[in-house]
Amino acid sequence: MGSKDEDVTVLLADARSQVSAVTAFEFRSACKSYAKDNVSTAVLKDVSLSAKPGEFIALVGPSGSGKSTLLNLLAGLLKVTSGEVIFQGKPVRAVNTQVGYVTQRDNLVPWRTVEGNLALPLEIRKVSRAETETRVRAAVEQVGLSGFGKHYPSELSGGMRKRVTLARALIYGANTLLMDEPFGALDAQLKLVIEEELMELWHAAHPTILYVTHDLTEAITLADRVVVFSSRPAQILAIENIDIPRPRDLNTTRFLPYFRDVHERLWALLKANLSDTRENRHG
Ligand SMILES: Nc1ncnc2c1ncn2[C@@H]1O[C@H](COP(=O)(O)OP(=O)(O)OP(=O)(O)O)[C@@H](O)[C@H]1O
Ligand SMILES: [Mg+2]
Repeated sequence: MGSKDEDVTVLLADARSQVSAVTAFEFRSACKSYAKDNVSTAVLKDVSLSAKPGEFIALVGPSGSGKSTLLNLLAGLLKVTSGEVIFQGKPVRAVNTQVGYVTQRDNLVPWRTVEGNLALPLEIRKVSRAETETRVRAAVEQVGLSGFGKHYPSELSGGMRKRVTLARALIYGANTLLMDEPFGALDAQLKLVIEEELMELWHAAHPTILYVTHDLTEAITLADRVVVFSSRPAQILAIENIDIPRPRDLNTTRFLPYFRDVHERLWALLKANLSDTRENRHG
């Protein structure tokens, strides 16, 4: 039989592994600096955040604060300068092929049709041709693009291109989605329609989502928690639980008094940081 201390150590190790098993991802004191021409710029400073499986987290913050950088760390496209990034219990050390990533720039391949673009992640994973065809057909339907499978990206509207990038991120059934201002450029009505579709998808499959947006209203309307970044180097200024029951009516949620309270509070934080950035730049 082990000593009491040993027992406690075993229990702690057990508890820790259980904690990591129930988190979808975690940033532990993550710091990131970029070096260019011998000058190092700190972009993320001590970011600690963990997500439960199936949670919808929205991230807002000033332009250039480091939001895309955070997603790139979780996608394994960048490495932390210090701290750790954990995905489903394991440190991210290489490209994380288990996440679906809707990047800020829609990087559809122009010489491939909608179907060809959707097939690409499956081809890379060496999924059989028959299986690829079935999944591509289902994905085209899922995002409302039936009849457009043979179109090239240049033949699509902005909203349709967004639908293709969403379908491409979903196509291999990743349980975690990183979305970087996915619907930012769309007009208000279309944005609402696509957000509703995203909510339906989320309710059906319950992926964990880390969603970057400039739009605080969108963040509060969609998310379980909203994270507010400061200006660069980004630190977390607030993590707000959004206690609005689901399913939510995306049209009317913004008129709830509770929504207005949260919005006012978070907007005050964001605004203070935006003016910080301006003063720093000109000061
Ligand atoms: N590969 C890189 N090399 C050097 N600096 C970089 C690189 N990528 C980003 N940066 C710098 O890091 C900072 C944060 O960039 P990032 O793209 O993460 O910001 P962001 O919050 O996503 O901004 P936006 O809201 O405008 O998309 C910026 O100052 C940017 O210039
Ligand atoms: Mg960005």
